Amino acid sequence: MANVVVVGSQWGDEGKGKIVDWLSERADVVVRFQGGHNAGHTLVVDGKVYKLSLLPSGIVRDGKLSIIGNGVVFDPHAFVAEAAKLQAQGVTITPDCLKIAENTALILSLHRELDGFREDAASNSGTKIGTTRRGIGPAYEDRVGRRAIRVMDLADLDTLPSKVERLLTHHNALRRGLGHPEVEHQAVIDELTSVADQVLPYMDRVWKILDDRRRAGDRILFEGAQGTLLDVDHGTYPFVTSSNTVAGQAAPGSGMGPEAIGYVLGITKAYTTRVGEGPFPTEQKNEIGEFLGTKGHEFGVVTGRKRRCGWFDAVLVRQAVAVNGINGIALTKLDVLDGLDEIKVCTGYRLDGEEIDYLPASQSAQARVEPIYESLEGWKETTKGARSWADLPAQAVKYVRHVEELIGAPVALLSTSPERDDTILVTDPFQD
Ligand code: IMP
Repeated sequence: MANVVVVGSQWGDEGKGKIVDWLSERADVVVRFQGGHNAGHTLVVDGKVYKLSLLPSGIVRDGKLSIIGNGVVFDPHAFVAEAAKLQAQGVTITPDCLKIAENTALILSLHRELDGFREDAASNSGTKIGTTRRGIGPAYEDRVGRRAIRVMDLADLDTLPSKVERLLTHHNALRRGLGHPEVEHQAVIDELTSVADQVLPYMDRVWKILDDRRRAGDRILFEGAQGTLLDVDHGTYPFVTSSNTVAGQAAPGSGMGPEAIGYVLGITKAYTTRVGEGPFPTEQKNEIGEFLGTKGHEFGVVTGRKRRCGWFDAVLVRQAVAVNGINGIALTKLDVLDGLDEIKVCTGYRLDGEEIDYLPASQSAQARVEPIYESLEGWKETTKGARSWADLPAQAVKYVRHVEELIGAPVALLSTSPERDDTILVTDPFQD
């Protein structure tokens, strides 16, 4: 039996929600290990629609333990709001079914503000990242800068003032530089004490819980957020998020050894999208892009922003297979391609007159690569709702087989609609 890590193999928004929900039904423990409430997904369980940004997907199912690992940056206000909304929908959230790692860094109002100040300033200079403005980057900066306030600090009110002092020395210097008013020490103390009671009951030694559960033979699902091309090291830097989104992060982001991970499932959309700024070699700023965006409902769950759309880029996904150690993919949204006469797939790039089969690391080279396309015949029949290979038109099967060949990983699951049962199972990641 394998513990499973689910990651996005493109720029996020690959349709992880449905697959993670499908897998969380089979898991005992569901763990978030990076990111914050910048990610967002929609789950449909027994006809009810739940929108999650911070809480692990296991939370909507009875009998599962949900865990927020130390690799996450945790906004206590977002937590309180999301928990209240889910509770109003009938979801039970108690310290028995949710644990938050004591060593998780907090996102405070000052992080969210700084994210916004910087994005506003960058809009004028053309260096905008297009962040979700949720304070994710600034909170991670404080974590590695060793000045973060962590969940456990909420329980240690005696030492809180000196920690806040250290944090504000840094932040107020930044704010002065950006022409914004300083933050008052007492305002941060008040912010922290106002949420402490709502967060502390969930605080725990997550590494120990996970070790016990693993030894007991429980199935653990690690739920990645965003996607590989948004990884701070392996993505399209600097147009990335501020955490490692790749599968290896599941270990340090939760406090388990790497041998605990048995299977890596890469969620892969049958075409490509991204939100925010940055390179996107196969982007289609034309009627094809409009077709994919409209048919695929490509708008952000968290920000409502329109996503940029383009053809499937096998170069990027092949690279994602390598850097994550992807064992199999869940291919999603194939039905969005229904009805196209021709479908293009990017198989390589041309860079300064030379052909290459990888995404170059430098920002300027990433901006210069030109995609080399292969053209495949489309299909007119619908693939929506297909539940077996036999239900798919021959050209659709050919497309899927070709994708597998190009990326060097097999399809483990094929999702043919947002409905959870519209899924063709080839390999159960937990059984591998
Ligand atoms: P941040 O994570 O808010 O700092 O944003 C950094 C980059 O990651 C921006 O391009 C965002 O649009 C992108 N990003 C963050 N979260 C998500 C997500 O859940 N899906 C897709 N893109 C995301």
